[in-house]
Amino acid sequence: MTDRKFLKIKDGDAVFDGCRLSAVAKEFGTPLYVYSQNAIKQRFEELRQAFLNGRPKNRVAYAAKALCCTAMLKLCEKEGMCVDVVSGGELYTAIKAGFPAERIEFNGNNKTSEELEMAVDYGIGRIIIDGLAELSRLEEICAKKNRKMQVLFRITPGVKADSHDFIVTGKKDSKFGIPLDDDIILPYVKKAIDSPWTDFLGFHFHVGSQLFDNSAHLAAFDIALDLADKVYDAFGFRVLEFNLGGGFGIQYTEEQPMPYSYFLDPLIKKAEDYAAQRGIEAPALVIEPGRSIVGEAGLTLYTVGETKDIPGVRSYVAIDGGMFENVRPALYGAKYSAFVVGSAAAQAGSPRLQPSQALKTVTICGKCCESGDIIIKDIELPELASGDILATPSTGAYGYSMASSYNRNRVPGIVFVKDGKAEWAVKPQTYEDITANDIIPESLR
Ligand code: LLP
Repeated sequence: MTDRKFLKIKDGDAVFDGCRLSAVAKEFGTPLYVYSQNAIKQRFEELRQAFLNGRPKNRVAYAAKALCCTAMLKLCEKEGMCVDVVSGGELYTAIKAGFPAERIEFNGNNKTSEELEMAVDYGIGRIIIDGLAELSRLEEICAKKNRKMQVLFRITPGVKADSHDFIVTGKKDSKFGIPLDDDIILPYVKKAIDSPWTDFLGFHFHVGSQLFDNSAHLAAFDIALDLADKVYDAFGFRVLEFNLGGGFGIQYTEEQPMPYSYFLDPLIKKAEDYAAQRGIEAPALVIEPGRSIVGEAGLTLYTVGETKDIPGVRSYVAIDGGMFENVRPALYGAKYSAFVVGSAAAQAGSPRLQPSQALKTVTICGKCCESGDIIIKDIELPELASGDILATPSTGAYGYSMASSYNRNRVPGIVFVKDGKAEWAVKPQTYEDITANDIIPESLR
């Protein structure tokens, strides 16, 4: 549930970071993504406390893929964080948001040469090499531009994390990372150590997303530390940095998320024990949280349109959004909750906010031409009518970032709220935007 500290009932209306959601819907229109800046800042503060304070070498690189727009990356930059990007577009957005290049880290399993050139031109902080050919391509580009880059190798630790198959990334059969077989990885580590164009720093892994159990992170870290020992034994080189990825789970409906310290304390301890046993300084640790920063800090506002009661079968409530702005239910079977916004509904008792009134089981569907365009199947809500405003909490991660113009629907805008002030962070797409790149070929004119 979106952080309760920032979502409250005031005079029967839902208020998010000081802004009445009914007024936000009226002023900015729906569908609309709304983010509480204070909720995002609180998550960064929790990370400072759990991971950064007193550990100057550690870094948090926000995984921009969860929500990437200049406003979000500006906020992240102002909070003193680093950013993890996975494409030229995310890299460009980070630069446009004013991110110092040295605080940008570049992941991705198939970075194009154009993207690598961009990264080298900007002089970003880290490139996380994901495949063996990438190292050679990067060396060539660096040689051409006479520039040296800091690199880590992403490894495939071969551990199975407990989450949806599509978002589990650390198992051996994966398109991500370099296989751990000594004869495959060690010669390339040697190449990166010896290369005049790369500064080899260490290893990266990301075991999966939306996790509630720390065992996959811990097992993967053991594997990375073993590999670091092999590198020392073979080449006398001490690995200086480990990137432990992201993946910390959040609450969409009934989940019970764990605090950051549940994951991070034992990882930090493992690094310290490892260093103490070898009489070396503890390595730098980096994490890349995405979902846990923005997921619960965002919600989506919709206007109810058509309602359909199919006697003895199902009651549909159609909203003005759908899989074009939240594809997660259709893609992963992701579950969401909803509440009714506005004083009338809230006074009557919206189930999430004031559980009191007679409820009806309905299915919230989108407006795309797909039967699978269901946002929430079977949820109990007060009787809804055309024009009511509905909110779905915890839509802040991978909603906007995976949105499309399917059926030529317009991608909704993003409003940032903070201490009672609501402002555009991303304008909604217009029909002009949707058709801007269309060309009628000469042969059709
Ligand atoms: N680092 C790397 C290398 C990653 O691949 C990911 C996510 C993260 C960090 C951030 O993970 P997080 O903290 O957000 O769990 N679209 C899917 C999620 C895909 C995640 C892919 N990688 C969804 O909507 O659930």
